[in-house]
Amino acid sequence: TGLVVAMDGPSGSGKSSVSRGVARALGLRYLDTGAMYRAMTWWMLRQGVDLADPAAIAARCGEPAVGSGTDPDGPTIHVDGVDVAGPIREAEVTGAVSAVAAVPEVRARLVALQREIVGAGDIVVEGRDIGTVVCPDATVKVYLTASPEARALRRSAEVAGSTLEAQRAAMAKRDTLDSTRKTDPLSMADGAIELDTTALTLDEVIAEVLRLVKE
Ligand code: CDP
Repeated sequence: TGLVVAMDGPSGSGKSSVSRGVARALGLRYLDTGAMYRAMTWWMLRQGVDLADPAAIAARCGEPAVGSGTDPDGPTIHVDGVDVAGPIREAEVTGAVSAVAAVPEVRARLVALQREIVGAGDIVVEGRDIGTVVCPDATVKVYLTASPEARALRRSAEVAGSTLEAQRAAMAKRDTLDSTRKTDPLSMADGAIELDTTALTLDEVIAEVLRLVKE
């Protein structure tokens, strides 16, 4: 079967840029699983589902058709055929996604979809449970980290109108929610290689991952 690169880590660790760069360099496909959790959250918000009620989320999560493209040069994400690439990055979704992603039924459904997309491989898959759950047999498992300061700095550069302090607080809150949930919390997979990107440029991190893949 084909190559699978599993790229896990918290937000602001550089996962998306690194994953796309690696996919491009190796001619592989690319899957952003976080975008799928965001798309599910966008749909729940739009439907008016009470996100404080896990049973309500579980009851409805089978309804939307979530579709993700795999081109690293033009990632796409759709819900019931609607392009949601813009709205899923808005603060409302970012603030709600951890609650939706904590629901076991949501995870079961999206993990099944993700495995379908991964198929025979030749893909870089980024997320929080790729090496542990989605692709435990991945060829290479990378766990990206960075200091809280570096992560907040990168994110506030990406998100228009956000201050560093607000970014840092929102990230710390999401880190806690993502790493303490009962189902598949963010954690390092067996066999994963930890890469601290705090002092590295994007190109340096990509080069390091390419080296790991070629080993
Ligand atoms: O890029 P950023 O870290 O802001 O987030 P993301 O990768 O778009 O993921 C958004 C949220 O989806 C995370 O905070 C997790 O709650 C959830 N997620 C998850 O539970 N499992 C994944 N494989 C990917 C994302």
